[in-house]
Amino acid sequence: MRILAIETSCDETGVAIVEARLASGTTKSIKVLANLLISQAELHAQFGGVFPAIARREHAKNIVPLILHALKEAKLSKKLKRSRVLTKKENSVLTKIFYKEPELFEVFKDTLLTLKVPAIDAIAVTSGPGLEPALWVGINTAEALGALWNVPVIPVNHMEGHIATALLVQRVHGRATNQLIRSRKSVKSAVYDLRSTQFPALALLISGGHTELVLMPSKGKYKMLGQTRDDAVGEAFDKVARMLGLAYPGGPEISKLAEKAESAVYVKDANLLIRKLSTPLPRPMLKSGDFDFSFSGLKTSVLYAIKKFETLTDRDKELIAKDFEDSVTEVLVTKTITAGKKYNVKEIILGGGVTANKKIRKVFAEKVAQEMPDTKLFIPNVLLSGDNGLMIGVAGLLRSKPKKHIIANGTLKLAKSVSPTLAELRRNKE
Ligand code: KG4
Ligand code: ZN
Repeated sequence: MRILAIETSCDETGVAIVEARLASGTTKSIKVLANLLISQAELHAQFGGVFPAIARREHAKNIVPLILHALKEAKLSKKLKRSRVLTKKENSVLTKIFYKEPELFEVFKDTLLTLKVPAIDAIAVTSGPGLEPALWVGINTAEALGALWNVPVIPVNHMEGHIATALLVQRVHGRATNQLIRSRKSVKSAVYDLRSTQFPALALLISGGHTELVLMPSKGKYKMLGQTRDDAVGEAFDKVARMLGLAYPGGPEISKLAEKAESAVYVKDANLLIRKLSTPLPRPMLKSGDFDFSFSGLKTSVLYAIKKFETLTDRDKELIAKDFEDSVTEVLVTKTITAGKKYNVKEIILGGGVTANKKIRKVFAEKVAQEMPDTKLFIPNVLLSGDNGLMIGVAGLLRSKPKKHIIANGTLKLAKSVSPTLAELRRNKE
């Protein structure tokens, strides 16, 4: 079973081709034939966040070249002697699919019709959550490929993709490797074992758009225990970075600064900083008694902290970055462990771009080992933490529920929340 996977929910265009290796009917390992990514982060940096219209334009520009490249990598790209001519019916189906993207249709025809139908069994595509204009590019392309190659298209929840990443266990032997492609070069033949989850499990999903604590009582079942009431963790990292004059995406930048503050002189300087700020930054909702989060107030506290300085030195920035990162880490770890104990979970899974954060990874590993020694912790490989095509391929393989007409759903949920978010409350009032 081979799946071509497409991810376009935010600012990364990801395409992967994965081959499932089955044992007694279930997928036991996954061979990555291609896993390509083009990041738009630099383009969005000037706006300090992702600009949807630009994201859409860039996905539309990059998606077909990326698919062609992935097919080549996977050795599934065979040229036809003469380009295929679309039947009337095919033409009408594809025209409908691409009615808002005629340029993309032209590129599609110029390139994909020159190739033999590849040995691909299904296409997986992110259907949400994310930026809808961006999601549509991936969905339309997936549906067009599905029609052209006569294969089913599987919609994938992006967050389920992040969870799926933590199921990949890298093979130590062989040619397996974990490199994710940041350019158009790829790594050949990475092989991952697919481990099975021990239920009940708990997933903490932390990304640019989400902060969710999700209970997984059994396979494919989710119960939302809590989520952010305002900003997502990654969003808070990005906004605080902006306040400190750092580039987008802010997570890695804050992390670098915070690391500098972890030096021998830190304790002395931290005391100085605390004296300047009067108190350290708050640990929002740490003792709220539920599993919700809130990071907007923390961001405002950083703003007030910055205002207390006449001039903000690099050292001050490092210390603020560290206190911010410590605050976020403490809240995430404490709430996750409390939920883990309450529901007696056998494993804790972390997912989403923010799991690339070294401090968060380290403290989670320490605290789970100390406080829940019988619970296993799974954190995705740093190179697979952020959005990528492979995670959608793995989730698509596990779910395998094709759909005829896929609709982009910017607010697609894994499960209904226990307590409504502020945005939901406001919407209900209207
Ligand atoms: O999952 P992801 O790639 O995209 C979304 O689905 O949102 O997450 C992106 C987020 C950004 O907000 C970025 O700043 C954050 O992940 N991030 C980090 C780190 N690397 C990326 N946050 C904290 N520390 C990092 N090292
Ligand atoms: Zn993501």
